[in-house]
Amino acid sequence: MTLAELDSQQAASLAEVTAAADAAALEQVRIKYLGRNGLLPAIIKQMKEVPAADRPEFGKRVQAWRAALESALAERVADAATGKKERAAFDCTLPGRWFAPGAKHPVSRVIEETAAIFGRLGFTVADGPDIETRFNNFTALNTPAHHPSMDASDTFWLTDDRLLRTQTSPVQIRVMTSHTPPVRIITPGRTYRRDTTDATHSANFHQIEGLYVDTKPVSLADLKSTLAYYAREMMGAEAGVRFRPHFFPFTEPSVEVDFSCHVCGGKGCRVCKMSGWIEIAGAGMVDPRVYEHVNQARGDHAYDPATVYGYAFGFGVERIAMVKYGIPDIRWLYENDVRFLSQLA
Ligand code: PHE
Repeated sequence: MTLAELDSQQAASLAEVTAAADAAALEQVRIKYLGRNGLLPAIIKQMKEVPAADRPEFGKRVQAWRAALESALAERVADAATGKKERAAFDCTLPGRWFAPGAKHPVSRVIEETAAIFGRLGFTVADGPDIETRFNNFTALNTPAHHPSMDASDTFWLTDDRLLRTQTSPVQIRVMTSHTPPVRIITPGRTYRRDTTDATHSANFHQIEGLYVDTKPVSLADLKSTLAYYAREMMGAEAGVRFRPHFFPFTEPSVEVDFSCHVCGGKGCRVCKMSGWIEIAGAGMVDPRVYEHVNQARGDHAYDPATVYGYAFGFGVERIAMVKYGIPDIRWLYENDVRFLSQLA
């Protein structure tokens, strides 16, 4: 055997150690090379046939080979014993692991699209906690103490003063208390009401509030054009809006906002209950009493009802998702059924 052959044999033996799949295969490699009738003892026995001049170098390389092989084997055997992943067990011909592709939840989708649409109009996203104070959720929003929404049968009260917010409107109070006008915000978030769950009600749902307050005139027409833009961006270029008079304690005048039915285009169908319109939001001009409560909380007069103008609106996220994607039952949004959720992928 020449020196070159010796080197290539050494490389082959080390490759076999690397390729061995388990402890038994490693033992086979050991026997093949280092065993009593193995290759290395055989080579040593044939040393006398190596030309005398090469013999010292040959002997040195055989010893180095034995050392390298023994340590490579020892290392792999130890790996196998400790359960460390066997490198050679990797089979590159196996198909890869398949992860079911997820899809964004319709509620997240509506929130993100809404934030993007209002973002183009200069609105930023504001946030507030799910646990609110009586002041932020009711009092500052000009809701009288006898108002039915404050009743324990409608609201989850935690203490006399703390509750799970029934609407995202308290974020209006938080933002105005901490910022001087102009403010232009939307606030997506969870809301809670003591509703019995059915196809259109859930005790926990999401709202998106909007608030624009400025020191220059802001009118109901601005509100209408803003919501009309949102309707077109969200529901399609043909979408229209209409306002109907309504009452909210914290806006004056107040309106309910309908979007034209995107299914029938306003002709009347099952989705819009033949009316051509779908009820979407509550809205109105911010009531001066709200500014007064805010000023009191701030301890200044930054929101002077005589010189500050603003509108607010609020709508249900689930409602938009159900209308937009044709979801007939609100509960489908909370059941985590991938057959339903993956349809928007
Ligand atoms: N907060 C009201 C509701 O939950 C909606 C609303 C928001 C109305 C802002 C007017 C202005 O019904």
